[in-house]
Amino acid sequence: MSALPSSIPPLERRPIRELPDELISQIAAGEVVERPASVVRELLDNALDAGARQVTVRLASGGVRLISVEDDGQGIPREELTVALRRHATSKIASLNDLETVGTMGFRGEALAAINAIAELSILSRFAGADGAFALDGRTGELRPVARGVGTTVEVRELFFATPARRKFLKTDATELAHCIESVRRHALARPEVGFSVWHDGKLIEQWRAADQREQRLADALSDDFVAQSVAVDHVGGPVRVVGRAGIPDAARSRGDQQFFYVNGRFVRDKVLSHAVRSAYEDVLHGQRQPVYALYLDIDPSRVDVNVHPTKIEVRFRDGREVHQAVRHAIENALAAPRAGDAVVPASAQQPFFKPNVPASGATWSQPAIHFTARERGAGDFDAMWPPRAEEAPPAPAASGWQAAGMAPSPFRAPLGLPGDAPEAPATNEEAWPLGRALAQLQGIYILAENSQGLIVVDMHAAHERIVYERLKAQLDGASITSQPLLIPATFAATPQEVATAEACAAVLPTLGLEITPFSPRTLAVRAVPGTLADGDPVELARSVLAELAQHDASSVVQRAQNELLSTMACHGAVRANRKLTLDEMNALLRQMEATERSDQCNHGRPTWRQLSIRELDALFMRGR
Ligand SMILES: Nc1ncnc2c1ncn2[C@@H]1O[C@H](COP(=O)(O)OP(=O)(O)O)[C@@H](O)[C@H]1O
Ligand SMILES: [Mg+2]
Repeated sequence: MSALPSSIPPLERRPIRELPDELISQIAAGEVVERPASVVRELLDNALDAGARQVTVRLASGGVRLISVEDDGQGIPREELTVALRRHATSKIASLNDLETVGTMGFRGEALAAINAIAELSILSRFAGADGAFALDGRTGELRPVARGVGTTVEVRELFFATPARRKFLKTDATELAHCIESVRRHALARPEVGFSVWHDGKLIEQWRAADQREQRLADALSDDFVAQSVAVDHVGGPVRVVGRAGIPDAARSRGDQQFFYVNGRFVRDKVLSHAVRSAYEDVLHGQRQPVYALYLDIDPSRVDVNVHPTKIEVRFRDGREVHQAVRHAIENALAAPRAGDAVVPASAQQPFFKPNVPASGATWSQPAIHFTARERGAGDFDAMWPPRAEEAPPAPAASGWQAAGMAPSPFRAPLGLPGDAPEAPATNEEAWPLGRALAQLQGIYILAENSQGLIVVDMHAAHERIVYERLKAQLDGASITSQPLLIPATFAATPQEVATAEACAAVLPTLGLEITPFSPRTLAVRAVPGTLADGDPVELARSVLAELAQHDASSVVQRAQNELLSTMACHGAVRANRKLTLDEMNALLRQMEATERSDQCNHGRPTWRQLSIRELDALFMRGR
């Protein structure tokens, strides 16, 4: 045993004593108030709890100099004003039972006390029904009559003046201001019926008027794009209801800055919820892309504990599983519904995606480089990789939207040179065909079709991949993928690893509709393939599936890697670029897309089709100017 170095001085011990009240408050304040935005959050919570319909936030120097929140709520009676500043003083709960079923934003009774400990605070309030208003100075405790209508204004000046260490951690005014605005936005998105305005250094910087519709508030406080690029969510799962809007995959961003989740009106960040959202998007969003959403979960307050965190940003669900499931299903269902017609158009299609070389005035127009060729028409060399099955053969195409709309045939039609390929049918079919009637194939990559809104462009490989994927998935969800034996097994020279994987996965492969057995130590034989992929190259398919399986633990692969596996198989089985399709085949693909869930995106989250409206086409040709 070595002796302690003699240089350590003997511990100087102080007697145990209770901390002074002010220090207790300052320590407690550290938990609640991290920066100006925390004060904004607490004061807005109070204003909303008081039933405010209009809230005005005034800030100076990013909120460090001044935060004032004015509301027209019920106010505070004169004799309670001083009580409001005490620690653990609240009008919102009185018993443990109240706590367990609390429906207000606040209940801990510590915000005003905390703020008063670290800033200069004053409250001006007039209680509903009282004859006058009073102002309380938090420092001196002085109460004096003032003039104002019913409601409350809380003013907070010189935040952290008493705790300079905290003040040093603040960022620039601009950054603190941004956080304050975000805090107001979070409240505004929760309560569309309340009007909000934000002033900074004397200038009005945000104003969101009271709205009857949540969509309106989302458009005002986020953007019109947020609404245009999202789908409505409304789902009940057990005791949980989830409403709101979920962004289409196309609207995903690199940052998760448009993700708003509310539980009983309270903005929260919760692992269960974010995981549920993530898994709902797993299938349609690739890599690190962050979905956008504003979702509102309603649940019996007794099934969620909101008293987990001083700032109440975290919650704990009594049954995390039921919540996870409800959220996941809510989003999956919303995204899966094929969004046909106007609502379907991916919002990015609302900007023209063919970039016309719009000339500076007087310059000559250069045509967008679109070359139509007629040769794709022939079924001649289509090699049955993707035959339209008899039962999927398309019904007669509907009348052209342009004709239905009484418009002159578009000049687009002439160069297409597809005489006699468009038997006319009653316009009533139109409705049933959101993706319209195939016109031609472009560069062996795209299918062009017309619907009542204009031109549809389909990425045929991406679209077909989605269809095959969903088909395989539906089968696998049932039990296993329907397999089709090959008349003559396809053998191929395999690597030792491929042979080993085929042996290790002998039990798993049949669920994927595959039978791959060793033929010799260096040869594998493919004996059966999924019926859906029967027309593809069995060897290529076997190789890619074995490569995928080799990366996973064979026993759990179907559960854990199911989606990646199916995605590999689908990509393999989908019609390739440069494969020529007949119009019938193109129409069959369009009809399958309409019937397929999530057909708006391929499994990698890329869009499978776009709409170019007549209006956009007109703009391209400067018609109607
Ligand atoms: N804007 C307001 N309008 C009406 N009453 C308010 C307002 N702000 C605070 N109060 C009253 O002061 C009390 C203390 O507020 P606070 O410290 O934030 O605790 P809590 O919100 O948890 O009750 C509240 O319970 C409420 O009665
Ligand atoms: Mg409060």
